[in-house]
Amino acid sequence: MTTASLLAADLVLAILAAVGWLGGGAAAAARRRPLALGLAAVALLATLARATTVLALARVGWWFVAEKVVIAAPLSLAAVAVAGPRLLRAADDIRTVAVPLLFSGYAVSGALLVTVLHGYPVSASAGLLAVAGVVTATAVSWRLIDARPSRTVSRAAVAVAVAALLAGTGLAVAPGAAPAAPHDHAYPQARIPDEPTRRFTLTAGTTTVSVGGHDVAAWAFDAQVPGPELTATVGDVLEVTLRNRDIGRGVTLHWHGYDVPNDQDGVPGVTQSAVLPGQEFVYRFRADQAGTYWYHTHSVSDVGVRMGLYGVLVVRPGPTNGLDVSVPVHTLAGRPLPDAKVEQVAAGVPVRLRLINTDSTTHRYALAGTAFQVAAIDGYELSGATSLRDTAVLIPAGGRYDLVFTAADTPVALDVDGRRVYSTGVVSTETGGWPVLDPLTYGQPAAVPWSRFDRTFTLVLDRGLDLRGLLPRYAHTVNGAAAPDIPPQVVRRGDVVRFTIVNRSQAVHPWHLHGHHVLVLSRDRRPAAGSPLWLDSFDVRPGEVWEVAFRADNPGMWANHCHNLGHADAGMMLHLLYS
Ligand code: C2O
Ligand code: CU
Repeated sequence: MTTASLLAADLVLAILAAVGWLGGGAAAAARRRPLALGLAAVALLATLARATTVLALARVGWWFVAEKVVIAAPLSLAAVAVAGPRLLRAADDIRTVAVPLLFSGYAVSGALLVTVLHGYPVSASAGLLAVAGVVTATAVSWRLIDARPSRTVSRAAVAVAVAALLAGTGLAVAPGAAPAAPHDHAYPQARIPDEPTRRFTLTAGTTTVSVGGHDVAAWAFDAQVPGPELTATVGDVLEVTLRNRDIGRGVTLHWHGYDVPNDQDGVPGVTQSAVLPGQEFVYRFRADQAGTYWYHTHSVSDVGVRMGLYGVLVVRPGPTNGLDVSVPVHTLAGRPLPDAKVEQVAAGVPVRLRLINTDSTTHRYALAGTAFQVAAIDGYELSGATSLRDTAVLIPAGGRYDLVFTAADTPVALDVDGRRVYSTGVVSTETGGWPVLDPLTYGQPAAVPWSRFDRTFTLVLDRGLDLRGLLPRYAHTVNGAAAPDIPPQVVRRGDVVRFTIVNRSQAVHPWHLHGHHVLVLSRDRRPAAGSPLWLDSFDVRPGEVWEVAFRADNPGMWANHCHNLGHADAGMMLHLLYS
């Protein structure tokens, strides 16, 4: 069983146990003896089965079970200890076990809420609030169902509930280690003299564009989606003037995957202020790394990118021969981009297809009609790329794959999620059933360049209730906290930093660190066995554990977030910090 299915199974068992106890309690109160006994039996069996799921998850990693072991297990055992013996003794009046069964139900439900609303790490406040809830609910039930508790028992219950509630709430609202206030001042912009400069101007504005024959409202650079493709040659200085015509919520340019100096990174509130209507901002940096990248607004990025504020950035190592095609894939107003394109290519011409996923979810790409190699991922060339055929690739949100092949007499075609986006003629191959490439086993391995790590961080991705804002929200969390309350990761310049990223949730999280490429060390404890993979965007699927590392060689305050931009907006965003 995969970790994701173990997590799901454990959740289902916990729900069954809760429903069994609660339903049993209700049935007992209504004197429905067989029903009460049946439901209690379901609860007991589910509790027993949970022992196996929790043990199996514990073997994958403590992150997956911490609160289940520390909070749910004692509460479940209390449930069995209270309800079990009373069930055996409930000879004639089943109603006498109603309260014990309900107590068990509250105990298991309380623990379940801790998992669903908080998760990792184990929190004393969550545990105390659960206890307060269980005691209160039990006391209330006891009063409602004839057998009145004695005064002492009710007083004790009230005291325990109040104490737990106060302690739990106090801990829950205590200020966490909030990140340093983002600096909002203007940076001096680096002048880079005497170098060949590529100048562009991008004007952001609202517009209407046509997608597949339909007019849709968009936010766009230069009134086109995607925006103009920016190209440069290694060694050029890129100078891009951003103007905002009428995007009320502001615009910036973030160079996704391009490890620019921090003050050019385009994150509003962190590296610059958002560019408001009528304003402009000039970005300037040297293109010293070849490859396929893209740019997008980072101001209300969830909405801005989805509405169309993005474009392609390609840096070539030198003059190219052959055909070089960028295929940025996007979903605009529910319609897929780009429209299918057909072009003729003469046999013998080398072709490079630059596949770019600018959406917030994974896409599946399949190149039919030719053998090909994956030459680069996220802008970095792979070593020892071997020839592939009839194999699909999955590109995470924000990620890029460069596929290369030499055109033959027969046509080729590229499908994205089964939709043809590019072809050089008629190809009738069905690509849906193809196996998917695992980049961790593709190409020629090399030794990891570091033997020790100066800093190690763990990011546990999950969902949880966030009460720190104005309105409570069900946030996407990192280590139980949501932005802006996730503590920043502080390192020193020169440190070799290792991140372990654990996905406890049921959603894919495409992880993206700004300003650095990370080297993949392992996934699910299996060391990466292919070409060194230097990534800026990688999918951490439910139940997965990734270990990645990088050298802190680009000082600043860097966003580190999920590139499902809706998740980032809903809390899954933190910062890496050093000077
Ligand atoms: Cu492409 Cu912070 O994002
Ligand atoms: Cu996510």
